[in-house]
Order: sequence, then structure tokens, then C-alpha cells
Amino acid sequence: MWYERFLGPLGVDMGIDLGTCNTLVAVRGQGIVLNEPSVVAVKKGTNQVLKGGQAVGWVAKEMLGKTPGSITAVRPLKDGVISDFEITEAMLHYFITKVTGRVRMLGPRVVISIPSGITAVEKRAVFDSAEHAGARKTYLLEEPIAAAIGAGLPFAEPTASMIVDIGGGTTEVAIMSLADIANCESVRVAGDDMDEAIIAHMKRTYNLMIGEQTAERIKIQIGSAAPDPDTEETQMEVRGRDMVSGLPRKTTITSEEIREALSEPVTNIIEAVTRTLERAEPELAADLVENGITLAGGGSLLRGLAIRIKEATGLDTTLAEDPLTCVARGTAIYLENIEVWKDTLENNADI
Ligand SMILES: Nc1ncnc2c1ncn2[C@@H]1O[C@H](COP(=O)(O)OP(=O)(O)OP(=O)(O)O)[C@@H](O)[C@H]1O
Ligand SMILES: [Mg+2]
Repeated sequence: MWYERFLGPLGVDMGIDLGTCNTLVAVRGQGIVLNEPSVVAVKKGTNQVLKGGQAVGWVAKEMLGKTPGSITAVRPLKDGVISDFEITEAMLHYFITKVTGRVRMLGPRVVISIPSGITAVEKRAVFDSAEHAGARKTYLLEEPIAAAIGAGLPFAEPTASMIVDIGGGTTEVAIMSLADIANCESVRVAGDDMDEAIIAHMKRTYNLMIGEQTAERIKIQIGSAAPDPDTEETQMEVRGRDMVSGLPRKTTITSEEIREALSEPVTNIIEAVTRTLERAEPELAADLVENGITLAGGGSLLRGLAIRIKEATGLDTTLAEDPLTCVARGTAIYLENIEVWKDTLENNADI
């Protein structure tokens, strides 16, 4: 529209990393303005968000796993994609309004990062959610591209770079060159599967039921993908419910056994990386010998994971700066260049 040129600077433009675990919003010129869990509390059996639509994010996460019978706390995204459309919309609406303020004449333009593997139907769901949530214009940006931009990789240059974004629901592996994805793979194995592996281990070995949040805490405190020569093996006390007696109980676990429990998801992630490398054109592969692999996403913070990927591939493997905000920062940088980039982005007209 002709007036967009004049209104553009007035409207709030935002980049959204709509993640399985966390949603981050970055605003042009302001950086990251919101970072909350992707959780919504609803009345059981309905899509009615509690507290008049305000039980979203941190408020809702506190309710997760501790909710009385009539309330459920849901994560509307599963494996990186929208599994509950209405609730995702309510969540986006809450986050967008929180950032733009209540009374606005003009909806924001938003760039939303999506996993590279999602289907047209899933893309449509993201679009519709953003539009119903008040966005004036929506652009989709593939998560690996956003991560590469956020990590400062030379993704638009004629040299290959590789990003591995390990989130909660999906791991995205991509080799990029000249602002495009040359090879990529998206596997639905990431941080959540590590938590599940720990839950399964506790059941199998100790007959102890633990919750998702406890499993995540174990992973972050003592979990690892490889032994670290600089850190000693440790122990941790864990509380849960005995599967036989049904009563609360505690037990002590070691970092070695958690490493063992995590080996399956870790191996799956590493295999996705090596498969992608095997498919790369020789010229691109040659560039990667120089440029190495960059890891992003919260899952990349698992101790020893970079070492394991380096061993498996023979390539230099480093963590991006602040891996958890990499994608959101990438969407914000994209926004700054939107006039240049927007033709290459998917927008409503394409779907
Ligand atoms: N220090 C840590 N060690 C290991 N894992 C961690 C650490 N910190 C966070 N994580 C894990 O990172 C995951 C969340 O990462 P992130 O916020 O990048 O995911 P997301 O973007 O919401 O998910 P997706 O991209 O799959 O939709 C969670 O599984 C969390 O447990
Ligand atoms: Mg993510």
C-alpha cells in the first residue's frame, strides 16, 4: 500500500521466535523485549484461557504440573509446529499485545521463524494465528536462516556455513551459501526428547516417576553428551513418586548414568549432522573445513555436545553467542533489512 511507506516507521515491527519451549519477541531498534515459556493455562476441556486471557507464559508455566483438576496448562506447540491452533492464537495474541500495548490503530508487521521442515498446512496455521492475533503483515523465515543471521554467519556470501539449531522440539541442520539453504534436515529430536529419556531412565532403573520439569533440571544440572576433562562427575538428589507404593520418595543419581540415558537422543542429533554433511556438494564441504559448524538453540548448551559433534565430523564446532536468543536476534536483523529482503520471504500471498 502507498501509505505503508509513511506508516512503516510508526508501526511496531517485531520478529517472533515461536518455539516449542520458549517464545521470544524482538522489536526493531530495541532488541529482545519478551522471552517467555510457550505455555498457556486453560480451563479443562475448553480453549478458554484463564485469568481473562492473561494466563500465558511465565504465569502459566508456574501452573504446569501443579494444576488442580479443573485447569490444564498446555504447550500449544509440539515438535516445533502448532498442535493446537486456537491456543497458539491466544498465546500469540497475548504476546503481541503485551509488546505493542493495548490500544493500537495499526497492527504490527511480524517476521515469524518456522522450522524448515514444516508443511504448507502447518505454515498456514502460523499465518492465520498471527493474523487473528492482530498482525498487519506476516512473513515467515526459516529457523536455520534466522539462527545463522543471529549467529553472525556469512550466510549471504559465496562461502558455505553450517548451523545446527537444537531447540526443544526440533533440531534443524542446514548448510547455507549465498543467502539460501543448500542442504538441510529437520529432525523431531531435541531437548524435550532428552527430558523424556531421563524420565524413562528413572522409571526403568528406580521405579520412580518424575515430572518434566524435574527431568529438565537434571539435564541442565548434571546432564552431558561426553565426559568433560575439566569437570568432575557429580551426583544429584531427585524426588518423585514411587511407582509401586505410590508414595513420594527420593534417590541419588550420577552424571555418568544420565549421560548414558541421554545417549540415544544425542546420537540421533549427531547422525542428522553427519547425514547432512554427506549430502553436501564437494565445494561446499570444502568451505566447511574452514568455516566449521556453529551450534544454536538451548539444546546446544548440553555439556560435551559440541565435542561429540566435532569428533563425529572432524570439523571445528563452536557455540553461537547466547544460543537461546540466536533465532530471535536473527529475525530482528532480518526486520532491519526487510525492505531489501522482503521479496525473498514468504508472505501471505504465497500460501
Ligand atoms: N543449559 C542447558 N543444558 C541443556 N539443555 C538446555 C539448557 N538450557 C536450556 N536447555 C534446553 O533447551 C531447550 C529449549 O531451547 P530453545 O528455547 O532453543 O527451544 P525452542 O526454540 O523453544 O524449540 P524449537 O526450536 O524446537 O521449537 C529445552 O529443551 C531446554 O531444556
Ligand atoms: Mg527454536
